[in-house]
Amino acid sequence: MDVVNTDQAEHWASVAPTWVEIEDHLERTAGGPGRRAMDRLDLQPGQAVLDLGCGTGPTTVDLARRVGPDGSVLGVDIAAAMLARARERASQEGASNVHFVHADVQCCDLGVAAYDRAFSRFGVMFYADPVAAFANVRTALRTGGSLGFVCWQHVMANEWMLVPGMAVTSVTGSPPAMPEPGQPGPFSLCDVDRVHAVLESAGFAEIEVVPHNDVISAPEREVGDYAAIALRMGAAREALREADEATMARAFECVASALAEKVEDGQLRLTRGVLLVTARA
Ligand SMILES: C[S@@+](CC[C@H](N)C(=O)[O-])C[C@H]1O[C@@H](n2cnc3c(N)ncnc32)[C@H](O)[C@@H]1O
Repeated sequence: MDVVNTDQAEHWASVAPTWVEIEDHLERTAGGPGRRAMDRLDLQPGQAVLDLGCGTGPTTVDLARRVGPDGSVLGVDIAAAMLARARERASQEGASNVHFVHADVQCCDLGVAAYDRAFSRFGVMFYADPVAAFANVRTALRTGGSLGFVCWQHVMANEWMLVPGMAVTSVTGSPPAMPEPGQPGPFSLCDVDRVHAVLESAGFAEIEVVPHNDVISAPEREVGDYAAIALRMGAAREALREADEATMARAFECVASALAEKVEDGQLRLTRGVLLVTARA
């Protein structure tokens, strides 16, 4: 496999086993926005679709259902362990019109004018050269085909990541390492103007970027479970990589109490902000 995003390949290979274990939680954070983005893509029976950075494949299977048995979906991901779970899921759910390929979207051969739609749920923010990656996707789309994806707004609009991150900082004494603005990472496409600039440079037209804000909620009794999972994800996980048992225990207490402050009327409520993006090839 040709890879230019070697750091990301290593990163996602290392987090994939955790992602498989916490997939129900990931569905709670990503499921709603993913369906919203998919609804905007005007999927029709019989279409050929790409799922970019498909991870463990929940959206690949959903796309396959939406395009029906005469359509097909190719899930592309840089992490083999994610794809192993995606293949298992597709087989369990009887999705026979899906295939998966282990590849780096930025540099792999996705074909020419071979697809009607390209979709991604939080899988397109990790390219060192996003213009090259999106240009590769555009080449793979038929003229008039479309791209639709959902990405995160700024961390300040996402308390579900911010609150655990700040609580961990109070334990480690320094903020978790964050990529520089514009560098690959969950917030690399959080700026609306940047999304327009990147997609325009990659040759897309009719670019629409729609912010959507809502809340993730969970019953108060799940605060402890939520805190335990938050420590295994994203910047909190990185910040605690070398932590001993006592530090981990303190981090758990701090995250749980920060989350408890976000409980209203028996419900944990945390803001979530995304950008819903569509563009024409
Ligand atoms: C935040 S996860 C989202 C996974 C999935 N779309 C979901 O919503 O559950 C990002 C995914 O993008 C993949 N990824 C990151 N960089 C990639 C690249 N250059 N080419 C292909 N996949 C990539 C990662 O391996 C990971 O599975």
